[in-house]
Amino acid sequence: MTDTAVAVQSYDLFTPEVAADPMPVLHRIRAESPVSHLPQLDAYLLTRHADIVAALKDRRLSPANMAQRLATFTRAEQDELLPLRESMHLWMGHTVEADHVRFQQLLKRYFTPATVNGLRPRIRELTTELLDAAAERGRMDVVADLAYPLPANVIAEMLGMPTEHREQLQAWSRDILAIFQLADFEQLLRSQRSVLEMEDYVRGLVRDRRTDPRDDLISMFVGAEREGLVTEDEIVANCVLLLFAGHETTAGLIANGLALLFEHPDELARLQADPDLTPAAVEEMLRCGGPASLIVRESTEPVRVGGVDLPAGARIYLAMMAGNRDPEVFADPDRFDITRRPNRHTAFGLGAFYCLGAALARTEADECFRALLPRFPDLRPAYDRLDRVATPPLGHRLRSLDVEL
Ligand code: HEM
Repeated sequence: MTDTAVAVQSYDLFTPEVAADPMPVLHRIRAESPVSHLPQLDAYLLTRHADIVAALKDRRLSPANMAQRLATFTRAEQDELLPLRESMHLWMGHTVEADHVRFQQLLKRYFTPATVNGLRPRIRELTTELLDAAAERGRMDVVADLAYPLPANVIAEMLGMPTEHREQLQAWSRDILAIFQLADFEQLLRSQRSVLEMEDYVRGLVRDRRTDPRDDLISMFVGAEREGLVTEDEIVANCVLLLFAGHETTAGLIANGLALLFEHPDELARLQADPDLTPAAVEEMLRCGGPASLIVRESTEPVRVGGVDLPAGARIYLAMMAGNRDPEVFADPDRFDITRRPNRHTAFGLGAFYCLGAALARTEADECFRALLPRFPDLRPAYDRLDRVATPPLGHRLRSLDVEL
């Protein structure tokens, strides 16, 4: 760091206090040192909404790749993880800009709000199937019985995967998610195994669609392959990306969203009384309980961020959950208000890497709450405390969410 006018303080995010509830600590960090340093991660942390927005738009900051993270492993371990690195290298967003844009152009029309709106009736059917099964049992773990299977089934169907393979798909996705957490070597090996198994599986479907095309995303990719626009390896790697990106996060939104409603019974009652508030409620769930709590960037050249000069190669953690509760932008930021307006959260990122699946996730959550709440008007928590697991430094997810119907 050079010529810095602003003091950069260091913080430890690996404390029980942060694991239990990061928000009070993040509010304090934002007030004391909005650009701060995390010595254990050798990274900088941004907590102000304005700095996060600027960083997301700054093309000198690229999505961090695995290389730097892997530098902490031995050479032999790094070699063992080569297949994983090669696969991730082909994921859109992790490629060079021209390849990234090529993929966005291929895919974006399948994910526009208008296209996704056309999927509503099917999303509704898939939701109803899951709710029927829960009604028969008389109870539900919202995480396992609704939040995970709904988006998993939707994206699997969009890609063209047979119904009977969906559970396997969820198991692979869980392993792959570890890549984005501070995984140890053994965990990354498991992730790698799942990526390779999933790739083999998708490769089989690609072969199948070459001779028997259908109305699904894999067939679209196969058509693009015929025109020389993508290679088989790119198709396979990006289907894996879509499969797990397409449901892990949305599952978090649905589960966290319902937990937030339970914590705020007045807001739950307002939503039950007026289902047309659902889109605004989903935005507030994204702001307060958005599943992507951090985005990681790496500077490709020296940059000034939040008034602080950082060198090339600096790792920068954007604390989305802190930016989305910045009092400079959100009045009474810790209040969960399902009619908040405007609601300029960054839960889906911004700029060149803005979430491809934002419209899909919004629609899935919208359909899910519109079906769930009227179907079970007495829906209530069947837990004393939330079964939440922290994934340091700032991540958290609900392992289960038991409800009485
Ligand atoms: C609530 C649900 C979701 C959240 C909170 C979320 C969040 C995000 C965020 C924050 C990014 C930007 C990452 C960055 O800037 O480095 C992103 C990118 C992405 N998301 Fe999502 N996502 C969600 C659902 C989905 C769904 C349903 C899909 C696919 C079907 C999807 C596919 C992607 C892809 C492919 C990218 C990379 C885009 C690119 O690099 O051009 N996401 N997502």
